[in-house]
Amino acid sequence: MSDPIGASALSAARRDMLAVRSLLDSDYTSAGRRPAAMIETYGCQQNEADSDRMRGMLREMGFVPTDRREEADLILFNTCAVREHAELRLFGNVGALKHLKAKKPHLIVGVVGCMMQQKHRADEILMKYPHVSFILGTGALTRLPEAVLAALSGGERAAFVEEGTTAIPEGLPVRRESGIRAWVTAMYGCNNFCSYCVVPYTRGREVSRDPAPIVEEVRQLVAEGYRDITLLGQNVNSYGRGLSEECDFADLLARLDEIEGEYWLRFMTSHPKDATPKLFETMARSRHIAHHLHLPVQSGSDRVLSEMNRRYTAEHYKGLVSLARSLMPDLTLTSDMIVGFPGETEEEFSETLALVREVQFDSLFTFAFSRRRGTRAWDMPGQLSQAEKKERLARLMEAQQDCSLARNQALLGSTLKVLVDGVGRDGLLSARTEGGKPIYFPGDAALVGSFADVRVTEPKTFVLYGEPV
Ligand code: SAM
Ligand code: SF4
Ligand code: F3S
Repeated sequence: MSDPIGASALSAARRDMLAVRSLLDSDYTSAGRRPAAMIETYGCQQNEADSDRMRGMLREMGFVPTDRREEADLILFNTCAVREHAELRLFGNVGALKHLKAKKPHLIVGVVGCMMQQKHRADEILMKYPHVSFILGTGALTRLPEAVLAALSGGERAAFVEEGTTAIPEGLPVRRESGIRAWVTAMYGCNNFCSYCVVPYTRGREVSRDPAPIVEEVRQLVAEGYRDITLLGQNVNSYGRGLSEECDFADLLARLDEIEGEYWLRFMTSHPKDATPKLFETMARSRHIAHHLHLPVQSGSDRVLSEMNRRYTAEHYKGLVSLARSLMPDLTLTSDMIVGFPGETEEEFSETLALVREVQFDSLFTFAFSRRRGTRAWDMPGQLSQAEKKERLARLMEAQQDCSLARNQALLGSTLKVLVDGVGRDGLLSARTEGGKPIYFPGDAALVGSFADVRVTEPKTFVLYGEPV
């Protein structure tokens, strides 16, 4: 059973959406305009997908979208708690709304998402910012209409936070910002408890969606013209546990690959401890699954990996990469790396540098360890200073830039299938390769939203330039 929230939450949400709509209709009809709403999204693709659901609910409630704070009657901040930096940015932006609220007293401000699942942050927001109308945690997303209704009715400021799972009932409306790329949730939550990571606390336990509604959602997206569809989960390789039918992630991919049409399917994130040869074989055999693997490694040191509770070694990781590359020679490999984990010695950091030089990632998301309250690493001994972390981060980024450039230079002269997503300021078309690399080339704006073949003429560290074939 993958719908623990159930039908009652869905019908309550529908009832409250209608109630908001009729309130807004009576308030705004005389004003001759529709109320406008905007969402500012921080953090990962899971949050992007949640914002799509909230946009869907806001539309049903009668709001029109805006991307200008001054025009908005309702502003939501969808927050991220993964690193301190994201949290500080959020505080700054919520604080900045104080003046707007003073000018526009009817403005509704909601702070939602991962930060609100942490009691100390939820309390801080309510205490410091009286202009915030409500807070809503990831586990209470379906209660957004209830929260908006309460705010419109002039009730007390309210907190909607639930513990446990963050799974969402099937059938909630969704409104995506792009007509080309789409996020599709495969599973909610995380059970891994990596010792540095707050996500298992902000997203609750793992729950997989049933395969049938996922297949139906992807089929629908392909029919609507979406060309690049990303399946989401914190560890998609544990997909299927707890489902009534037997279906692991590779099985799910194989079923999705049967959908006819011209599209790419990709997924994130894949945890190395659970990645299987079957997964890579399925990718290699498929018609639509992009040869792109985001396989976060986090460190090149076995001692640090063990302290991080990652449950694999650097050797195991390298073995997975060799296998994947032997099955898919054109594979684009990306990863995440953390520097300055508590107790990380200079020698252990140099093992990370050595792994980066050996594996040759196409690109790497690099992070300085950030202490997260409630996680095991919060009070581990041997915390490094900000200056030490910054210095290691700079050295890691420098090493990676050499690898990114070398990987991109190897593409010089080759012809790649790319998905055109827009026109840049310089008049060149902007597109992404199958591996997700940005590429720019001259061409007709009518190509936006379709695939094209492009020869790489000028590879740079972070982008490629090319010409149409
Ligand atoms: N579920 C994914 C996985 O296991 O690979 C990761 C999701 S997390 C949102 C994205 C990345 O943030 C992680 O891979 C990790 O590199 C980084 N991250 C998580 N917690 C962090 C922390 N406390 N400090 C620095 N980086 C962190
Ligand atoms: Fe965080 Fe680890 Fe879960 Fe990824 S697998 S979300 S890093 S706890
Ligand atoms: Fe941040 Fe929550 Fe994603 S903590 S990284 S938005 S799951």
